[in-house]
Amino acid sequence: MKIEHLFSVREMSKKDIFNTFSLASKIEQNPEKYSNSCKNKILAALFFESSTRTRLSFESAMLRLGGQILGFTSAKVSSAAKGESITDTIRMTNHYAHIAVIRHFMEGVGELAKEFATIPMISGGTGTQEHPTQALLDLYTIHKEFEDIEDLNIGIMGDLLYGRTIPSLLFALSKFENIKLHLISPPALRIRDNVDFRLKETNLNYSVVDNMKEVIDELDVLYVTRIQKERFPDPTDYERLKDVYNIKSSDIENAKDNLIIMHPLPRITEISYEIDALKQARYFDQAKNGVWVRMALILKFLGLDINE
Ligand code: NCD
Repeated sequence: MKIEHLFSVREMSKKDIFNTFSLASKIEQNPEKYSNSCKNKILAALFFESSTRTRLSFESAMLRLGGQILGFTSAKVSSAAKGESITDTIRMTNHYAHIAVIRHFMEGVGELAKEFATIPMISGGTGTQEHPTQALLDLYTIHKEFEDIEDLNIGIMGDLLYGRTIPSLLFALSKFENIKLHLISPPALRIRDNVDFRLKETNLNYSVVDNMKEVIDELDVLYVTRIQKERFPDPTDYERLKDVYNIKSSDIENAKDNLIIMHPLPRITEISYEIDALKQARYFDQAKNGVWVRMALILKFLGLDINE
């Protein structure tokens, strides 16, 4: 893989994606084999926004590869609180680590990384823009389930406007064949025009609906997202929309037998807890798969995946 940084899934070819999955799958089958692969390597986890899964799974991935980790978990405890620019933080990190994962509220942080980072930098999510490693673990989960990522009917439901996992997942899916998508959201939370514009340039076939009832019986995958409270300019809009979806077991009674329900987590009220025990629930598996996918990405971006 030639790319040095990862800020958009659009930077990865289908071949890059399958190579990553093939390595992730080898790691998943035999993690012991890789337990010293990153000996003497350091991963910096630069989290300017809150995180549970992305940070912990990147850290777990590096530790399982025998490497070490350093970093911070919020802008408040970094020098950003004193007014340091992101550019200077990136310049410092070049000297402290061999690879970095960065989560930042500012869109376009990838452009700065490309200009100032001399170590590989991987996005852990930028603003409302993208979350490429989440899309990769989502696709890895779909790949494991259906063996291939084609001829699938996928519903993507929730906050399609502010959720950054959505553009990444859509751009990733647009690389695959014969995917039929249903974008399910209230009118106020549809995908942004710039995302729609890019999708229209692909072969992705998608419809826009308000309610999952309209499509549930057709779906192989229902991908649900949280209404992104922290992104709403007007809190009253959030209050109006926050409980717009709440999936219960009765809602999936007419679903296909092979339906799986995915979610990047954290889940608030959009999926009832009663769904967790059903065979359709895959969200905790996604979180687990994130470790294997992130181990594969660390090896690839450090150039340690040769002969794997
Ligand atoms: C997502 C994120 O941070 O964008 N979380 C995650 O990384 N799994 C989704 C969200 O916060 O809703």
